[in-house]
This record gives sequence, structure tokens and C-alpha cells, in this order.
Amino acid sequence: MQLEQQKILILDFGSQYTQLIARRVREAKVYSEIHPFNISLKKLTALKPSGIILSGGPSSVYDQGAPIIAAETFDIGVPVLGICYGMQLTSHLLGGKVSPCSMREYGKAELTIDANDDLFKSFATGSTLKVWMSHGDRLEIVPPGFESIGHSGNSPLAAMRNKEHRIYGVQFHPEVVHTPQGRQILENFIFTICGCEPVWTMKSFIQQSIESIRATVGDKKVICGCSGGVDSTVAAVLIDKAIGRQLTSIFVDNGVLRKNEFETVSRLLRETFSINLVAVDAARRFLEKLSGISDPELKRKIIGNEFIAVFDEEASKLGTIDFLAQGTLYPDVIESVSFKGPSATIKSHHNVGGLPEKMHLTLLEPFRELFKDEVREIGKELGIPDDLIQRQPFPGPGLAIRLIGPVSEPDLKLLREADAIIIEEFKNAGLYHSVWQSFAVLLPIKTVGVMGDERTYEKVIVLRAVESVDGMTADWVKLPYDLLDRISSRIINEVKGVNRVTYDISSKPPSTIEWE
Ligand code: XMP
Repeated sequence: MQLEQQKILILDFGSQYTQLIARRVREAKVYSEIHPFNISLKKLTALKPSGIILSGGPSSVYDQGAPIIAAETFDIGVPVLGICYGMQLTSHLLGGKVSPCSMREYGKAELTIDANDDLFKSFATGSTLKVWMSHGDRLEIVPPGFESIGHSGNSPLAAMRNKEHRIYGVQFHPEVVHTPQGRQILENFIFTICGCEPVWTMKSFIQQSIESIRATVGDKKVICGCSGGVDSTVAAVLIDKAIGRQLTSIFVDNGVLRKNEFETVSRLLRETFSINLVAVDAARRFLEKLSGISDPELKRKIIGNEFIAVFDEEASKLGTIDFLAQGTLYPDVIESVSFKGPSATIKSHHNVGGLPEKMHLTLLEPFRELFKDEVREIGKELGIPDDLIQRQPFPGPGLAIRLIGPVSEPDLKLLREADAIIIEEFKNAGLYHSVWQSFAVLLPIKTVGVMGDERTYEKVIVLRAVESVDGMTADWVKLPYDLLDRISSRIINEVKGVNRVTYDISSKPPSTIEWE
């Protein structure tokens, strides 16, 4: 589907910023794809890139086993921009000289522009830009045919080019926010040097995607598991636009959803979007299996297996189905190819793992090439209310893993009420969308309290609120005292059975976001 359109390929050498480069390119409305550095030259050429960006990476070109590409990559006639390690590698392969710095350069630096007619065309020669450096090696001699176009205090060769062959390199990171004019530099590469047009938008994506879904599915049937989350909801609405009644969406109440979630999401999909939805109230059978279970992994397994069983039963009522739609996102896809990048350490949660194999279904994944923000934008274009699109992530095993200890219906009810108060208060404070997750955890202990003249002996709710970009690392949020105060009083007053609220002030790592 993407082959005809202009695209920038990013070769990943393991930098923590590789995804950021891809996002910056897309923000400039040009499609970008990340590939592992060792993609074959044949495959790379077949993708017909308009330009190639070599990412940074933790290695030194002299390391044993350092990621190296074929020097012929520079001969295919496509502009190349090497960033940090990408620049050192360019130089190393084309006959320049790279050496270890006497002192590793990390953090802010000042770049002086020495030539301003292409990569730096927006800036005056001799002017300085704030840039972000993070490198142990540096360039000593540029390769033959290259010239220096920028320098900094610690890097006399901080930017280079071979204008004739359109090969560029920068020692700093233009993709990070600490290089304020980095966006402009990347755009100069994409537009001026590669000749791309800014035409990649979510509107154009929706159009292409609808056509491609129709072509792939033909007259076959598709099922989609809706969870109430952003990705599956947007996927269902988009696929419905493409194939209407050939799509059946299945939303299962597993008994561990948030307050009113099953009703609200079902109503929205059915009434506002006229989706062909099967809403299955299976809470009872999940809760019977979960009752008394304390082991978190067992809770996950029970919920996963039961979900597959319910889904399978419902699907078998629909006749022959060929496709299973899923809201898989780009980061899940690149995770599996990334070269030793930090993404390799992400914990993955396959709540419905095994479904496609069991049911002999082909996957339909319209968002395989998109980042979460882009899916949100599509949702917006499709008219899905902000309240749903901006939802915080919610784990598949739901409240079951936020209720520490044995699952019981009274405790679930209590946790659900406390959770609803937290969501409401975060929304009232205008913080719900700006934090990554904010929720309640119920502890399996009782503590003493006093209400009126009597002593109480009741449960403890923990408030957890974290900031994060992708859930891999997270910081606890420094919440205003008055919000903490309101949440605590409301939970203690309104949720029967709770006499204490505490705030979790641990970050990830070493803690995790969820308690189980
Ligand atoms: P942790 O607790 O590992 O969570 O820091 C990272 C992110 O993953 C979510 N999470 C899950 N999501 N099934 C899911 O679908 C699970 O079993 C699961 N466990 C954790 C968590 O909410 C956070 O966003």
C-alpha cells in the first residue's frame, strides 16, 4: 500500500531515539519507516526510499560486532543523513577517520554553522544553534569528497556533507527537543535535499486504508475484539467504514472492567457509529473462575483463556470468518526487528495470544505502521469523542490485577467505586489526559481507623498516578495536595469499607506501574 508514496527510511543502529526520528519525519507529513540496520541492499532499494537516515546507536565503529552497513548503500543515488553513530559510520565506511574523544560529550552544545545552502539553509553562516550531543567517538578527518559544514567546541567536525552525492552527517541529535531547531534541520533534509512533498496526513491514510482493507477482505468476513481501548475502537470504526456489515465486533464484559465501561462503550459503538456489535455479558463466568485466585499470573491466564473461549463461541455463531482485526501499533512491530535497542526490553502483554492460530484466522492490522498519537488523530478524524480517544491505557486483566490478593466480588465493587472517584477527580482537575495512568489499587490488608466514637478496621486504597511516554519507564506524579486531599476524603467518605488512602511515590524502574 505504501510503495508508491514518498518515504524516508530510517536504519536503526539501536539508538533510544530511533522512533523519535520516525515521528519527526511524519510530523513533517512525510511517511517514514524504521528498518534494522542489516536490511539487505536489495530489499532497501526495492522500497524506493526518497531518503535514508542512519540513526545513532550505543556502539563505536571500532567495537567488535559493531553494526555496519554495506558501503554500497551510499551508491544507490538516494540522499543519506547520518546522525551521531550514523555519521561516524558514514565517515568510517567512506574513508574518513573516527577516534575516541578524550572526554565523552554529553548534553547541550553550541553548533556554529559553516555553510548554509542546504542542510542548514534556514540559518545564517556563522550563527550558532543549541544542539544536543551524546557521543564517545568523534570525527577527526572527513572522507574524501566531503567538507565540514558545522563545528562545536568539542567537535571541530560536527556536521559534514558531500553535496554532489547528497550524503550528510551530523554529530548532534536533531530529533530531540533539546535541539530546538532540529525539526528545521530534518525538514531541510526531507524537503530540500530529498525533494519530498508534505502530503502524508491522517486524512490521506484513512482514504488509502479504506481502499486497502476493501481489497484485502473482498467479500469475506472479519471479526474484531473490542476492549473499550483506543486502538481497538478506532480500528472497529475504520474497518466498519470500509466494509460495513462484513465486520462483526465483539466486546466481552469480563467482570473486571471499570465502572459503566461496558454500557458506555457498547452504546457508543452501536448508537453513534452503528457498528455491528455483539456485546457479551460474560462477567459471571469470568468471576466464577477468578474467585479466590491470588496469583497474578494465574489471574492473567484465566482471563486470557476465558476470553478466547467466549470469543470463539461467539465467532462460531457467525459462520465462516477469515480475518481477525487487531489494533497492533508500529512500536509493537519494530520491537521485533530492532537491533539490541532499548525497545528489546519492553514487557509485552499478549492478552489474546493464540487466538489467530486457534481459529485459523488471518490478521488484519490497519495500524501496523502507526504510532499511538496517529491512531488518536484518525479517531478524531472519524468523529470518535475525545473522551474515548484520550483514554488512559487499561490492562487487559483489568481490575483483577489491581486488587491485590484473592479476587472477590465485594472487593471488586469497592475497587471499582474508588477507581471511578479517581477518574472523576483527575478529569475535574484537568489532569486525566496529561498523566499516563491514574488509578486505584486495593490492598489485602485492613488497618485501624476511627469514625465518630468507634474504631474501624477497614481496607486500604492506594492511589497510583504516573507520567510516562510509553509505559517502559515512569515517574510518579507530583500531584497538588488539594487534589490528593479531595480524592482521599471522597474515597473514605463514599466507598464503604475503606478507611485509609495512601499515595504510591515509586517510579519505574525499579518499581512497575501496576502492583501485580
Ligand atoms: P508495568 O506494570 O509492567 O506496566 O509497569 C506497563 C504498562 O503495561 C500495562 N500492563 C498490562 N497491559 N495486560 C495488558 O494489556 C497486562 O497483563 C498488563 N500488565 C501491565 C500497564 O497498565 C502499563 O500501562
